[in-house]
Amino acid sequence: MSAASVLEVEELVKHFPVGRGLVGSSGTVHAVDGVSFELREGEMLGLVGESGSGKTTLANCVVRLLEPTSGSIRLHGRDITHLSRRELRPLRRSLHMVFQDPFSSLNPRMTVGEIVAEPLRLHRLAGRKTRESRVIETFERVGLGPEHRFRYPHELSGGQRQRVGLARSLILEPSVLVADEPVSALDVSVQASILNLLRDLQRDMGFSCLFITHDLATVEFLCDRIAVMYLGQLVEVASRDAIFRDPQHPYTQALLSAAVVPDPAEQRKRRRVVLEGDPPSPLAPPSGCRFHTRCPLHDLSAPQSDEVEPALREFAPDHLVACHLVAPGTPAPRISGVEASVA
Ligand SMILES: Nc1ncnc2c1ncn2[C@@H]1O[C@H](COP(=O)(O)OP(=O)(O)OP(=O)(O)O)[C@@H](O)[C@H]1O
Ligand SMILES: [Mg+2]
Repeated sequence: MSAASVLEVEELVKHFPVGRGLVGSSGTVHAVDGVSFELREGEMLGLVGESGSGKTTLANCVVRLLEPTSGSIRLHGRDITHLSRRELRPLRRSLHMVFQDPFSSLNPRMTVGEIVAEPLRLHRLAGRKTRESRVIETFERVGLGPEHRFRYPHELSGGQRQRVGLARSLILEPSVLVADEPVSALDVSVQASILNLLRDLQRDMGFSCLFITHDLATVEFLCDRIAVMYLGQLVEVASRDAIFRDPQHPYTQALLSAAVVPDPAEQRKRRRVVLEGDPPSPLAPPSGCRFHTRCPLHDLSAPQSDEVEPALREFAPDHLVACHLVAPGTPAPRISGVEASVA
């Protein structure tokens, strides 16, 4: 049995109507198109996919910063899809978001002590004295000294600002944290320290986390399970080990083949699969399987893949794949990795 889920997302859709330009054209951006997944208690779930695949849109819908077009979101079993702002307010204690850019998400006119205390104040959770001690405690948790409380965001380094962002998200001890590329705006040299901190905090505090990134090395380091997104849809969801050792979807295989492996011997064995062409526009996603226009295995799955959208279904226990070539117990042909390597 898998752990209980804290967040369940079902058939989530977010379309953006756009256009009416000079030529009077208009259309719909299919940013998220029927995404279902669960976030389990105490786990770190990685969401990976290339730029424009819909990761941020999905995250913003999940925390209800964006109104989904359709589908549902349940937090601890409660349907939160259509709650009003006012109804959502008490839930903000358990569901928090960490943003990509720690600078623009912090109010420049407040000291960082005030910024971190604000959620307590807004939720009227503690008097001034208790707030003060909770802030100091949370600063310590994220590796900041109490003296930092009196600084302003612009006086801090990028890494320190993201620590403040984390402190603000964690001061209410949420059960679910959604982190959208929380280190990609930071210097490479400080990225690792923030990732380590996030991992330690998660282990200590036990929250569940949806971690969004386009970097495979980061999800490998951090995440228990991984969901791979392509053009608004999930193509594969499995444990970290299954994704890295036995990727099924041709897109996942291609992503992994392009990733750098620390072991040079392993790296030499790999065949790099270069996906042809740019990702198609989400204004007009391909029919059938969205990946078919770039799929290295297209010859094997056509014409079905051009016409029929593959469902995300169980290939093995706890391993979901959306590909016509994969059925329960029937793995996809290898397009990369050790098996495919030719001497
Ligand atoms: N408000 C909006 N109006 C119209 N289109 C939008 C809007 N927000 C996002 N999009 C489009 O939706 C698609 C998904 O965007 P999104 O930002 O969710 O992708 P992403 O996976 O987070 O990309 P990145 O890795 O670059 O952050 C893109 O094509 C984007 O241009
Ligand atoms: Mg994004």
